[in-house]
Amino acid sequence: MSTQLNYDVVIIGSGASGMALALQLPTHTRIALLAKDSYQQCSTFYAQGGISAVLEQDDSFELHVADTQNAGAGLCDENTIKEVAAAGPAVIEWLANLGTPFTMDEQESSTSGYHLTREGGHSRRRVVHAADATGKAMHQTLNANIARADNIDIFEHSVAIDLIIQQQRCVGAYVYNRKNHQVNVFAGKKMVLATGGANKVYLYTSNPDGATGDGIAIAWRAGCRVANMEFIQFHPTCLFHPKAKSFLITEALRGEGARLLLPDGTRFMPRFDERAELAPRDIVARAIDHEMKRLGAECVFLDISHKSSEFIKSHFPTIYERCKEFNIDITREPIPVVPAAHYTCGGVMTDLNGHTDIQNLYAIGEVAYTGLHGANRMASNSLLECLTFAFTSARHILSTLERVTEPAPIRAWDESQVTDSDEEVVVSHNWDELRRFMWDYVGIVRTNKRLERALHRTHLLKSEINEYYGNFRVTSDLLELRNLVVVAELIIRSAMSRKESRGLHYSLDYPQLLEQAKITVLTPEQSSGKKLSLVE
Ligand code: FAD
Ligand code: SIN
Repeated sequence: MSTQLNYDVVIIGSGASGMALALQLPTHTRIALLAKDSYQQCSTFYAQGGISAVLEQDDSFELHVADTQNAGAGLCDENTIKEVAAAGPAVIEWLANLGTPFTMDEQESSTSGYHLTREGGHSRRRVVHAADATGKAMHQTLNANIARADNIDIFEHSVAIDLIIQQQRCVGAYVYNRKNHQVNVFAGKKMVLATGGANKVYLYTSNPDGATGDGIAIAWRAGCRVANMEFIQFHPTCLFHPKAKSFLITEALRGEGARLLLPDGTRFMPRFDERAELAPRDIVARAIDHEMKRLGAECVFLDISHKSSEFIKSHFPTIYERCKEFNIDITREPIPVVPAAHYTCGGVMTDLNGHTDIQNLYAIGEVAYTGLHGANRMASNSLLECLTFAFTSARHILSTLERVTEPAPIRAWDESQVTDSDEEVVVSHNWDELRRFMWDYVGIVRTNKRLERALHRTHLLKSEINEYYGNFRVTSDLLELRNLVVVAELIIRSAMSRKESRGLHYSLDYPQLLEQAKITVLTPEQSSGKKLSLVE
């Protein structure tokens, strides 16, 4: 039996952005907070390095803005960076007041009291962190506060399929329950996509399994514009080991002096950039990719063993322990590393309130394009963006909630035309194929020919997947695949439309940087490719 649940605000996603928004809204607001998996399966939980904020006297908002714009290759929106940089201190104070156990400065040399680390692109130490597991500390803190809030209902294992739009305004979503396989309606006066990034579209990624770009595909199908999808950030250093799936080696290691080495032990980054290991990520990842291809090497190495064992174990306990499981002692030997897809800089276009093109629909966190990251996100700016937009969208939701009128009756999910699948292999095969060709053809270095090949394949896959979706009952794998193919196409189309190399988008056919920095905006054709009549 399908049911309809009614809330003031439905937040789809319970990472940093979704949880912070839920806690920012007043306690009389009835909130549904959804996670498609168990609660902690989100990028937030795995964040390592930290969260950037201007806290010291030798730093300033102007410097944070300039560093962000510089890392973003001149494509960031100046107003957005200013808003986000200015929010930094309040964000840290709010998180600390909730109980986040940030690492304090034992030397007492910082005026803020926090130990601040450094990462690529930052001209100052400005990254607040909880050792090397900042995301876990934040997530657990937010979670503990949510557990005490009576107005927030949590729905784990609940996968949003599509939004329900009535006369250009969003009134709810169809949500598949992975436990009992029902599809229910979650109706909300305000609907929020806080679904994270899309990096699972690549074969190798630092992200957890759920990062399949659902929110971007859902918003696109509903009629929202997306921007800058070609800018997928590849993190330079993920652990290279056949059994170490998606394990990141934080950039903070390089911030504390770790060096990148070739297999023969030579340092190479100074040849590529005067900032060496602390150049922005696009530059470091491209240099590693270049050296690996030049030498036919399967990885490069990251070495911090010149620091004392005590320093390494106290600053990087998670990485030390995890590497030890693979018989790598980082206090004595270098770590084998490779780049992997890490962050989706583009996404659903929003204003400074996190509001999208569709009335009453918001997108916050990694799913959104706010203009902050431009052509390449600066390290530790993402968690700050998640929290900033949780704050601004909460204010906007609160000031407009009372004006939202009742929707027309919403139709229940219709399964009368579909049966159980007898060919699940199609789904798993297409998952693998998609992720592999995205890695091979739409990766760190691109060409027109590779992009054309990839686009051709997405078209074939899309028609196969849509046919499958039209005939069979939904499963979470099928829903994710349906979203991945949309996101893949958006990335490829955006990449094809950029006739230059800028930030994370590097094309052998257009190696030059154009004088004018322009964002890529894709606009959906309103009614294409929908199975159900979602626009009522
Ligand atoms: P997420 O935390 O990814 O949460 C997404 C939520 O949406 C999940 O609850 C998921 O279940 C839910 N969801 C998705 N689709 C659906 C659906 N269809 N239906 C229902 N629910 C759905 N950034 C920094 O600033 N500093 C760092 O140190 C840092 N380190 C990182 C380390 C790693 C390993 C990774 C992967 C990322 C790191 N990042 C870091 C990036 C940052 O963690 C993420 O960008 C940020 O946490 C995203 O938060 P979010 O709330 O947007 O999404
Ligand atoms: C890291 O710790 O290297 C990740 C930081 C980030 O993605 O911002």
